[in-house]
Amino acid sequence: MSRSSTSAPVYRVLFRLVLERLDAEAAHRLAGSAIRAATRPGPVRRLLGRLLGHRDPGLRVRALGLDFPSPLGVAAGVDKEGTWFEGLGALGFGFVEVGTVTARPQPGNPRPRVSRRSGERALVNSMGFPNSGAAVIAERLGRKTRHTIVGVNIGKTKVVPVEDVGADYVSCARQVADCADYLVVNVSSPNTPGLRDMQSADQLAALVGAVRGALPAGGPHLPLLIKIAPDLSDREIDAIADLALELRVDGIVAVNTTIDHAVLRGGTRDEVSGGISGAPLKARATEVLARLRSRVGERLVLISVGGIETPADAFERIAAGATLVQAYTAFVYGGPLWPWRMNRGLSKLVRDGGWSSVQGAIGTAAPPTSRGDGPVTPASTGTSGATRTPRSGAGGPRRCAGRGAGG
Ligand SMILES: Cc1cc2nc3c(=O)[nH]c(=O)nc-3n(C[C@H](O)[C@H](O)[C@H](O)COP(=O)(O)O)c2cc1C
Repeated sequence: MSRSSTSAPVYRVLFRLVLERLDAEAAHRLAGSAIRAATRPGPVRRLLGRLLGHRDPGLRVRALGLDFPSPLGVAAGVDKEGTWFEGLGALGFGFVEVGTVTARPQPGNPRPRVSRRSGERALVNSMGFPNSGAAVIAERLGRKTRHTIVGVNIGKTKVVPVEDVGADYVSCARQVADCADYLVVNVSSPNTPGLRDMQSADQLAALVGAVRGALPAGGPHLPLLIKIAPDLSDREIDAIADLALELRVDGIVAVNTTIDHAVLRGGTRDEVSGGISGAPLKARATEVLARLRSRVGERLVLISVGGIETPADAFERIAAGATLVQAYTAFVYGGPLWPWRMNRGLSKLVRDGGWSSVQGAIGTAAPPTSRGDGPVTPASTGTSGATRTPRSGAGGPRRCAGRGAGG
């Protein structure tokens, strides 16, 4: 697929003349500020909402006890600080995964830590979770009435020793739980030493158990998902899928960036080492999704991420068993109208395929599962979510639990 089919001509010129000349992280901040300014509450946001908002009820997905207006979400890393998720929602994204948030504030790795591989529609990053910390971000998320579904992705504070990692995640989860519509335990970013070791069955079971135990009991169920790496072996993916079922987590986000630099043409020439995202990740992300689906069937919500650039890519993942999809890199290269074009294209694919809604297309191209599809239980709900009390969603704006009317 050529880049011309993913980015509008005006944005392409802007990208070449302005954004591409800036440091990738500075360009990202500039784009974020522009989108935030353009989507402040007021007449411009209302107009944008009318032009770009979700108008096709056929794109609605019910999952995790929430009503997603579109299955296309923003992957973790775009809105690390929880400062522009409403703007992203106004552009047409159905949900935003804020973070990665850590229990304590931290600066992340030294710059430069993001590099573009424009010719391959890829990014290489070694960010290392720079963020203001869970307390500040939770306060920010709770400040205003929210119109956009927000997941919060949590990770390890760099300075915390590996033996204290459980307590660190627990502290983070406790601080953000009230303000999240779903929570993702991130054990897959390549830029925090020791983090990916947490994907081993023993460590993951202990970690998920600890985080689950820390969540408020008695209130609405807060869906808990785990985010995994693309660099796991098939055996490791199967083990995580089985464990996720055993632990009755709600879903799996697959995949994070890859450390396999062979996916880039000519290997690594970047001044930045780290994880690769975008088009080179497409094939592996699709494989991991297929593997997970064959193992868990409809019993977990699978959120597929990695190299999704076109409506056909998104639809292919949904038909392969993803309930929801996310993107980061294609949005950077595609520009602010990219989510609108994606939604429009997805609507057409759904209609042309003869489905009344995208929900009906989930898993329609997936082969039968290898372990048999057990019934969908409330605790491990896939797409039904019928027994859940929604924390928010397209049904209406929400405030964080226990928070007053902020401004
Ligand atoms: C600059 C950058 C920063 C990222 N930061 C995070 C992060 O903080 N937490 C996380 O779970 N994933 C992070 N990711 C990974 C994305 O969420 C996503 O899994 C990955 O980029 C694959 O999707 P894509 O090909 O659509 O970009 C980041 C990716 C990029 C490019």
